[in-house]
Amino acid sequence: MKRIMITGALGQIGSELTTKLREIYGADNVLATDIRPASGSTGPSAVLDVTDAQKMHDLAKDFGADTLMHMAALLSATAEEKPLLAWNLNMGGLVNALETSRELGLQFFTPSSIGAFGPSTPKNNTPQDTLQRPTTMYGVNKVAGELLCDYYFERFGVDTRGVRFPGLISNVTPPGGGTTDYAVDIYYQAIEQNSYTSYIAAGTYMDMMYMPDALQAIIDLMETDADQLIHRNAFNVTAMSFDPEQIAASIRKHLPDFQLDYAVDPVRQGIADSWPDNIDVTAARDEWGFKTAYDLDAMTADMLEKLKNKLQNA
Ligand SMILES: NC(=O)c1ccc[n+]([C@@H]2O[C@H](COP(=O)([O-])OP(=O)(O)OC[C@H]3O[C@@H](n4cnc5c(N)ncnc54)[C@H](O)[C@@H]3O)[C@@H](O)[C@H]2O)c1
Repeated sequence: MKRIMITGALGQIGSELTTKLREIYGADNVLATDIRPASGSTGPSAVLDVTDAQKMHDLAKDFGADTLMHMAALLSATAEEKPLLAWNLNMGGLVNALETSRELGLQFFTPSSIGAFGPSTPKNNTPQDTLQRPTTMYGVNKVAGELLCDYYFERFGVDTRGVRFPGLISNVTPPGGGTTDYAVDIYYQAIEQNSYTSYIAAGTYMDMMYMPDALQAIIDLMETDADQLIHRNAFNVTAMSFDPEQIAASIRKHLPDFQLDYAVDPVRQGIADSWPDNIDVTAARDEWGFKTAYDLDAMTADMLEKLKNKLQNA
């Protein structure tokens, strides 16, 4: 990994991934692309709609990329509102990115999600290889995407790699319409109003991970020798599993009067109910040394401190 092109680089993951990769590999070696123009980019950037296959190929070629990290997608909750757009963007963008990687011999990364599981998947300690019959458009896209990435490796030898991310919690760029967004919003509202109304019901457990651990996981997987990998794509990764009551209890260690109440959204609750409670990360640990630094309380302390500074200086 020396010259890296990123799609969807202005999103929740892409924005922080761009910064981190520029620190490690050099600002000039990371090309940040998104359908929206970047303002104040700290390195090379370009406008790219990932459904434009020719422009994606040309940008990667002109940049001399050796790696493509494909982040542009429509997330779970938005994909349920606009299923056809989700299919066209999530599948069309992915196949273009895989084709660009095949044509130019690029190493390739894209995230799948815990949304690739469904109601018939074992809910606890969900295995790496298990039943995947998701009931959401996002899930359908993610399962098809996992298989397509495997296919490009088996059929064409493209060095495809990927993880199944859980809900990601971060304090730089707001999340883009996922089911786990409540676990980010709750920290903003805790600081601004000392209260939060959750659209996810008490007792609903989902896997989560703090952004610094997610970025490190991407880099560790990409830098692992290929001959160590048995799975290549869609490694289960997570750091913690909690329900709204537990994240509220963690916040109360810093803000004792924090109030949590509920106005459950049936659409996002339905998606959450179809996902695992907690997934097994043994394959990622064994094959490329996946590890995390943040549990719920460590993440809460860091989130509240960073957001306090951010919101005070806004
Ligand atoms: N954030 C999470 O909690 C999470 C969890 C699991 C998996 N993932 C996956 O990680 C990837 C990135 O997610 P994210 O949270 O950064 O998403 P996001 O919604 O925050 O960002 C997506 C970016 O893609 C851009 N985009 C939209 N349409 C585009 C197009 N046609 N062409 C180019 N760019 C376009 C948007 O402008 C946005 O900047 C996605 O594949 C997502 O499914 C995210």
